Amino acid sequence: MIRTIGVIGGGQLGRMFALDAKRMGYDVIALDPQPRSPCGQVADEQIVAQYDDFDAIERLGAHTDVVTYEFENIAIESIRRLEERGYSVSPSSLVLQITQDRIAEKTFARDSGAPVADFAEVSSVGDVRAAGERIGYPAVLKTVSGGYDGKGQWRVSDERGALAALEEAGGARLIFERFVPFEREISVICARSAKGEIVSYPPAENEHDAGILSLSLVPARVSPEIAGNAREITERLAAALEIVGSFCVEFFVTGGNLLVNEIAPRPHNSGHYTIDATRCSQYEQHVRAICGLPLSPPELMRNAIMVNILGTGTGNTLEGIDQLLKDPSIVLHVYGKRHAPNRRKMGHFTMLLDGPVTDREIARAREARALLRWTDSADETAQVTV
Ligand SMILES: Nc1ncnc2c1ncn2[C@@H]1O[C@H](COP(=O)(O)OP(=O)(O)O)[C@@H](O)[C@H]1O
Ligand SMILES: [Mg+2]
Repeated sequence: MIRTIGVIGGGQLGRMFALDAKRMGYDVIALDPQPRSPCGQVADEQIVAQYDDFDAIERLGAHTDVVTYEFENIAIESIRRLEERGYSVSPSSLVLQITQDRIAEKTFARDSGAPVADFAEVSSVGDVRAAGERIGYPAVLKTVSGGYDGKGQWRVSDERGALAALEEAGGARLIFERFVPFEREISVICARSAKGEIVSYPPAENEHDAGILSLSLVPARVSPEIAGNAREITERLAAALEIVGSFCVEFFVTGGNLLVNEIAPRPHNSGHYTIDATRCSQYEQHVRAICGLPLSPPELMRNAIMVNILGTGTGNTLEGIDQLLKDPSIVLHVYGKRHAPNRRKMGHFTMLLDGPVTDREIARAREARALLRWTDSADETAQVTV
């Protein structure tokens, strides 16, 4: 019987997960180094500790019935130890091990029959030369682990650039990938239960700005064949990984074909729309999956555009909400982060559509975001963020 859920990581994904878990009657304990983290604010308790503090993570295991995590850059050792001590962890350490290492992830995807762009591991000048000859330029070099939101990546057009990236990485393991001239990026949110039940949502189409998700358009403007294939590949990866929980697969659409870019072993930014536009969000599916409950049909009730609200480094008070919320089709989510440095994910809104995703609706979503700005308010108590 599961009553209490532990979440490693106190960010917005953990917060939205905890909100659904609380609605469904569970107690939640978050673990994050930052006191009153976004998740900690809505959880019953927060353990303030680093992600590699094995004692603290073991305490989390001891006080909860199941432990999950909301980001993948945690020490794999801490998840393994929980498993060794007999605590229940979802997704498993094996899933985390594969998905936190870009080489292991792409190799696993390829071996499972999912198409990926050509790649090679490079850690020396010789490796870079060989990869350049086999794969060609332009290319993208990325740190094998620890990267997110476009961090730890170099786009290079020739060997000189690749060697400079190698040097800048200072010995970190790198993956050398073919640069994909994609038409679109799409992602599929999927959930799998311990019994092997699998559901996947219609693909979202994602626009990034300098490596950070900016907009998700739902459903993606792709053919039914592409949408169906993306779901089929995602479900195949769910089964192959034997993952328990919600997760996301990001794809490039290029020349009418799909290439898997990334697998995130957790709810994903591009799935925020499921809160407002479907009957059962990716977060509720995650609760259901890790608590042994049946999954819910991933039915899209409204088309939607999800718009990320990033910090700009110009202050910690969000202004313009009064204007934004005059539009009844907009649902606002703010994550409760105290500081809004440039490009930090601070919140998002979902614009629910009556019809299809069109250029006009996309422009409307952008205009809505332009109503918002971060300022330094003299009156700190007037802050929306805590
Ligand atoms: N091989 C590639 N070819 C073209 N664009 C890429 C490639 N790899 C990454 N990108 C771009 O950079 C973004 C972030 O890269 P990604 O691999 O998803 O890393 P992360 O999201 O962990 O930072 C992608 O969404 C895509 O826009
Ligand atoms: Mg990504």
